Amino acid sequence: VEQTYIMIKPDGVQRGLVGEIISRFERKGFKLTGLKLFQCPKELAEEHYKDLQSKPFFPKLIDYITSGPVVCMAWEGVGVVASARKLIGATNPLNAEPGTIRGDLAVQTGRNVVHGSDSPDNGKREIGLWFKEGELCAWAAALEPWLVE
Ligand code: GTP
Ligand code: MG
Repeated sequence: VEQTYIMIKPDGVQRGLVGEIISRFERKGFKLTGLKLFQCPKELAEEHYKDLQSKPFFPKLIDYITSGPVVCMAWEGVGVVASARKLIGATNPLNAEPGTIRGDLAVQTGRNVVHGSDSPDNGKREIGLWFKEGELCAWAAALEPWLVE
């Protein structure tokens, strides 16, 4: 089954949006398989965002992600990667549609409250980066027949 790495960034934690954001993925019908509050070391932030290394905002991005605890999550489900990106909305919150997390809850690209993997391969890569094996939990969701035919 497809998996994605979702992370509530330090601004989302500081602003008390953790419950609100988790609720949106739960209510959609995805399955939570990993969850922790975590102070991210600089090296991990750099590895996670290594594709953006050459961007002028990279140092600011690393400062932002390491500025306080983040909430790390693994979510599983049919089409979860693309669907989570839709729930999250556009990178720039001013361009994000109302009804999306960024569209409803944020105003600036540099404070856009949440991360979501951009491909199934990156979903796997990022879950491997942020979680140790024993921290993930495979479980049978009793509601599954009511979500997937
Ligand atoms: P993520 O889910 O966090 O990966 O966001 P994204 O996939 O919508 O955007 P992208 O991967 O291109 O950029 C990663 C993150 O870098 C963004 O979510 C922003 O937090 C930050 N970022 C991207 N572009 C800019 C920018 O122009 N200025 C600043 N300050 N931050 C940026
Ligand atoms: Mg991205």
